[in-house]
Amino acid sequence: MDEKRQGQSLIIESIKNNSKKLFIESYGCAMNFSDSEIVASILLKQGFNTTKHLEEADLVLVNTCSIRDKAEQTVRKRLEKYNAVKRINPKMKVGVLGCMAERLKSKFLEEEKIVDLVVGPDAYKDLPHLVAEVEEGRNAVNVVLSKDETYGDISPVRLNSNGITALVSITRGCDNMCTFCVVPFTRGRERSRDPQSIIEEINDLANKGYKEITLLGQNVDSYLWYGGGLKKDFEKASDMQKATAVNFSKLLSLCAKSQPKMRIRFSTSNPQDMSLEVIRTMAKYPNICNHIHLPVQSGSNRILKAMNRLHTREEYFTLIDNIRKIIPDCVISQDLIAGFPTETEEDHQETLSLMNYVKYSFGYMFTYSERPGTLAERKLVDDVPEAVKKRRLNDIIALQLKHSEYRTKQYLNKTVEVLIERESKKSNLHWSGRTQHNVVAVFPKEHYKPGDFVKIKVTNCTKATLIGKAINLTEN
Ligand code: SAH
Ligand code: F3S
Repeated sequence: MDEKRQGQSLIIESIKNNSKKLFIESYGCAMNFSDSEIVASILLKQGFNTTKHLEEADLVLVNTCSIRDKAEQTVRKRLEKYNAVKRINPKMKVGVLGCMAERLKSKFLEEEKIVDLVVGPDAYKDLPHLVAEVEEGRNAVNVVLSKDETYGDISPVRLNSNGITALVSITRGCDNMCTFCVVPFTRGRERSRDPQSIIEEINDLANKGYKEITLLGQNVDSYLWYGGGLKKDFEKASDMQKATAVNFSKLLSLCAKSQPKMRIRFSTSNPQDMSLEVIRTMAKYPNICNHIHLPVQSGSNRILKAMNRLHTREEYFTLIDNIRKIIPDCVISQDLIAGFPTETEEDHQETLSLMNYVKYSFGYMFTYSERPGTLAERKLVDDVPEAVKKRRLNDIIALQLKHSEYRTKQYLNKTVEVLIERESKKSNLHWSGRTQHNVVAVFPKEHYKPGDFVKIKVTNCTKATLIGKAINLTEN
């Protein structure tokens, strides 16, 4: 703990004295944003200060996403922009981090010559050495994936933080091999972080006044700590290691108990690994938020199988039923993909009927994007025409909007507790925050301030936002 605090205060001191300027941008998942905080933490110790102004940067880093082609195209446009600035300021160095770095490796340096530095998601600790190379005029690359790197020993600085909510990563990589997904290739094998370091990070955040944390992993339910090493090697662990292993449910309890006033969220859950024990733990601790992000990808058993999702539609329904039995008010959200190879109109209807069964509160919906190197790319033809994918996606989005509205309306005239995060984007007279169910709520500021938990009466709503008034005033 003490060491951690020293690390933090060094970072604060070095901000004053640091002379080099780092411009860092993040794209993609929450894990990337969390990783950028680790990267910034490492570089602050190397004499860098962060800047908002690209033009004045000595080093520009972009943390990239490969999940869909569109994500990569967005990053490519940013790289063009950096290179335009670099023509005016040739001393500026440009580096690519994250999944595109891993996927394209030295191609950026050798063929495209558009960056100076390429660093994969497991190599950030090598940044001091890599940046020194670059500063001496040589290109640098490290895309080695690791068996045990979890950055558990790095105390991340919080970038663009509201000082109220923070991300805490608990696993890295993924062993699932969903056939559409590039993550297992770009982020490597699954490994879990030492629970001790997770709890220390949470305690540290609480001491700094943070009120809510989100535990992050590609598949949090598969979290398993037995003293280090890959998830897949657990069978080889000693009896002692097995007896003292910490699974996700235990980790949740540890977090909830160590900071009972802190809201605890987690993402992402995987239906095939989510246990009843986890759901019961959620029910047991009031500070674990009743929201489960539970991607399903498709409602058709045939497509689920082709995606290598290891559960059926029926098993998913059983899981949903169990969640509702144990936590009746639990909010459930989804990820869905429209137009996976071979998807028929019938399969698509299955997806819509699954949605009708669950009536998700919200979701993230995509058209299928073929990713080089994935099993689907190697074994299947991307045969659903783009227009059909788009039309099916529109059907899915329209249905989701209907369900979101239905779910949001359930809160009308009810009292909910909101954690204030920031000023409302639409009005500087209102605060904006979220309920434990992850629903956004806005209400007049009165004497409240960000970081306060406030009970509000919901008087109105839009499709996804609650509008209300703090109840103290109504009572007066
Ligand atoms: N388990 C991860 C999933 C990462 S990808 C997590 O923590 O969220 C996030 C979502 O992107 C997936 O659930 C899936 O719906 C979508 N996705 C992944 N690969 C895709 C592809 N090739 N085409 C379209 N959508 C994809
Ligand atoms: Fe990707 Fe499936 Fe893992 S969606 S991140 S391979 S759970």
